[in-house]
Amino acid sequence: MENFIQQIPKAELHLHIEGSFEPELMFKIADRNKIKIKYKSVDELKAAYNFNNLQEFLDIYYAGANVLLTEQDFYDLTYSYFKKINEQNVIHTEIMFDPQTHTDRGVKFSTVINGIKNAQDKAKEELGITSKLIMSFLRHLDEQSAFNTLEQSLEYKDWITAVGLDSSEIGYPPSKFKKVFDEVRKQGYLVVAHAGEEGPPEYVWEAINILDVNRIDHGNRSLEDNNLVKILADNKIPLTVCPLSNVKLRNVDKIENHPIRTMLNQGLVATINSDDPAYFGGYMNENYSAVANALDLSKEDLYQLTLNSFNSTFLEENEKVELINKLDEFYKNNN
Ligand code: HPA
Ligand code: ZN
Repeated sequence: MENFIQQIPKAELHLHIEGSFEPELMFKIADRNKIKIKYKSVDELKAAYNFNNLQEFLDIYYAGANVLLTEQDFYDLTYSYFKKINEQNVIHTEIMFDPQTHTDRGVKFSTVINGIKNAQDKAKEELGITSKLIMSFLRHLDEQSAFNTLEQSLEYKDWITAVGLDSSEIGYPPSKFKKVFDEVRKQGYLVVAHAGEEGPPEYVWEAINILDVNRIDHGNRSLEDNNLVKILADNKIPLTVCPLSNVKLRNVDKIENHPIRTMLNQGLVATINSDDPAYFGGYMNENYSAVANALDLSKEDLYQLTLNSFNSTFLEENEKVELINKLDEFYKNNN
């Protein structure tokens, strides 16, 4: 099974590039930029990765991102992620970035996106990995800040496929961002939103009915509402589920109780993703292995989850077919 997981061609749909910032690279970049980190060593930093909830994680995640200043920094961060997923046979990825985390510190929007885009181009050329970019608004900031960010993005519209909503969930419902997402869609972007990670099913309803999302990030708490499950299943609205993240942030008490199998059984288009792999103990393969072992998933289950991912990408239909053919070819020969 481990070989199967390693080798099956995969797509990642829920990944915060700032969450792929490995401690070793963080220290290297901090050094280069002459910024002091409050932890003395990589080990001391890693020891702090013990979270009781989303907010405790976010506090450390934003602190880590503070050392990123130059285009080279964003390039190095992004290309390191690509090298890692290349070892794991991830052949397509849709990367989220949080511009406000950087622009609020005086880093230019152009610095952030140029660094990321150069890494995407290099990864396509050198590793054959295709990718899309999702710009996420921080929901703990106000709607005006999101509007300002949207405005800054327009110059780079061709590089950005979708706009999302992340950060602290409870108390910041999707409805708070109705106006800006109306404009986001008018500008031609697709829409995703974190919902139902810590927040209630009502936030998932709002993401669907008010933001008109193409996918839900996480969505776990949808399972508390049968009518919502039916809407998600009937409309084939994908959920980008992140098993190790859910355990690390204590939204699921232990991996054996992860709801991914229930989601499949209820006809939901669930997918497996890593969220913030540098902080949560693993990239795609570690997430696959964790649920496969804990829930005794079959190769067919893993194939279904992976097929869901490819079907849920923001690629053109013909591009999807090409990647799904690769997946099917693999499955035919390894089943
Ligand atoms: N939830 C909300 N915001 C985030 C997350 C998450 O899991 N990771 C990075 N930003
Ligand atoms: Zn996330």
